[in-house]
Amino acid sequence: MAGLVVAMDGPSGSGKSSASRGVARALGLRYLDTGAMYRAITWWMLQGEVDLTDPAAIAVRASEPALSMGTDPDAPTVAVDGVDAAGPIRTAEVTAAVSAVSAVPEVRRRLVAEQREIIGAGDIVVEGRDIGTVVAPEAPVKIYLTASAEARALRRTAELTGTTVEAQKAAMARRDTLDSTRKTDPLAKAADAVELDTTALNLEEVIAEVLRLIKEKV
Ligand code: DC
Repeated sequence: MAGLVVAMDGPSGSGKSSASRGVARALGLRYLDTGAMYRAITWWMLQGEVDLTDPAAIAVRASEPALSMGTDPDAPTVAVDGVDAAGPIRTAEVTAAVSAVSAVPEVRRRLVAEQREIIGAGDIVVEGRDIGTVVAPEAPVKIYLTASAEARALRRTAELTGTTVEAQKAAMARRDTLDSTRKTDPLAKAADAVELDTTALNLEEVIAEVLRLIKEKV
């Protein structure tokens, strides 16, 4: 399986991150969380008080922060200008702002190029929204994870404190709409991706199914 690239796309709460890490671990592959890269840029812009309601303001600063991604599935890392950003990129403030930043073409152009560089010769599981369609359309294995709105909100609520299933459902619906209707590289299932509905599956079952699909394809 040398050089293998596994593209894992889908909306938030579909089980992408845990499944992607589990699959990478099981096969001894690297792991790249592309959402963490969009979050890292967003965090840096919030700190620099960039006006996130202004796409032009985002665009002119898009190439400034240096990102560094660690691809060990047991301990993935993300650093911005040499500073560990793993914690701060998961705050509610970043989550609420990331769709606006990730819709800006200059941000996407920069990050897609960096993602392709990290993917390099392969041996990697890559999760995101546009991996099978834009970042790695040649990937031999493309999986599009889905789950019911209820299941996704329940999972996200269990990971967070101080929120409710209803609030999460509303926040996710808003982010889904922004992510799938933006002009540049929207969240989309590649024509040749296998859709996997994880609503009724636990993590082990999702990982087992993805491993089965990889075996079938490669
Ligand atoms: O997977 P996540 O929730 O951490 O992603 C955060 C945001 O980043 C998501 O709302 C949309 C954006 N994103 C993107 O536009 N393209 C990707 N490949 C990954 C994430």
